[in-house]
Amino acid sequence: MWRSRWNDRNWERRVSEIETSLLSIDRLGDAAAIIAAGGIVAFPTETVYGLGADATNAAAILRIFEAKGRPSDNPLIVHVADVEGVFRVAKEVSPIAQKLIHAFWPGPLTIVMPKGEWVSEVLCAGLPSVAVRMPKHSVAIELIRRAGVPLVAPSANRSGRPSGTTWEAVQDDLSGRIDGIVCGEPTELGLESTVIDITQSPPCVLRHGAISLTALQAVCPDVVSLEDLKGVEQVRLRKSPGTRHRHYQPHARVMVAGLKTEVMGNTLSEGWASNPSSRAWIGLSSPNPVSDWRIIQVCENVDEYARVLFSFFREMDRLGIEAIVCESVPEVGIGRALMDRILRASVDE
Ligand code: TXA
Ligand code: MG
Repeated sequence: MWRSRWNDRNWERRVSEIETSLLSIDRLGDAAAIIAAGGIVAFPTETVYGLGADATNAAAILRIFEAKGRPSDNPLIVHVADVEGVFRVAKEVSPIAQKLIHAFWPGPLTIVMPKGEWVSEVLCAGLPSVAVRMPKHSVAIELIRRAGVPLVAPSANRSGRPSGTTWEAVQDDLSGRIDGIVCGEPTELGLESTVIDITQSPPCVLRHGAISLTALQAVCPDVVSLEDLKGVEQVRLRKSPGTRHRHYQPHARVMVAGLKTEVMGNTLSEGWASNPSSRAWIGLSSPNPVSDWRIIQVCENVDEYARVLFSFFREMDRLGIEAIVCESVPEVGIGRALMDRILRASVDE
């Protein structure tokens, strides 16, 4: 039923008749119509804003790569509105997949599975697998339902930049390159979903997110993390897209304080050389002395730190800050995902 509908290309072509810039959430019908007509529209999810297109429309998918400046070898996530959706996207839904779905959907877990036959090469960047997620966000779910098709949705940012966690950030990065933005609240989690690849054994976490390794292991005890694999296996999986592309970087130089080795990526002393009026600090505690900093953001807990990190990066760029120092946190729970994003942002390339 779905399949034949997806293949029906005689949907109304109304993109040009619809105002395409900023859409309030009561205009989801318009957003869905733009997508059904082959357009691309950003929308909120519980993790970050996504840039949505009809997952069955290869031309629309290509526009997403173009708008983001995304390398064509980095595949997209397909978003479904209900658990049944995954059976139409994946070739098979293994018992492990079913357990994970049951435990964590809707929510910030993306599962890489063998791809169904209709899923285009462009979407999967030529891989035999497809990444699928059911978001836990009423606006996202309603948009997918109204569009009547699953949506591809990478994070709504220019490639390599911090993910957009507010509609304003999406507008800054993508205005004029996309057809619309559904303007919801700032996102609740602030970091992208956990990505787990179950096409190989043992299942492997490719990207850390709010669903922690410990939580995954409680459901599937043999799940490992990419960094914990050794030798050939890791080399093979490191070839997996997304683990090799530049990510999360603001224009300012990012440094990390408080690691055992004191610093990783850039050194704090180099950052220190910058003028206090162009330095910013973010962490769970306050730096000492405070007079050394133009901006100090002290978060109440790790959840808040994760939620605000990307918008902090963007705000600092707007203020012309040259050096951002991020205080490290213990790598437990969402702390692991947070440290992953901070460390990647701190690597010069
Ligand atoms: O939270 C999220 O996941 C957000 C929201 C919008 O849902 N989306 C998101 O999409 O972060 P994106 O495209 O920025 O990240 C998708 C990640 C990339 O690291 C990509 O390489 C990986 O998923 N991925 C997608 N398909 C894959 C596949 N078949 N095999 C391995 N990795 C895959
Ligand atoms: Mg992204």
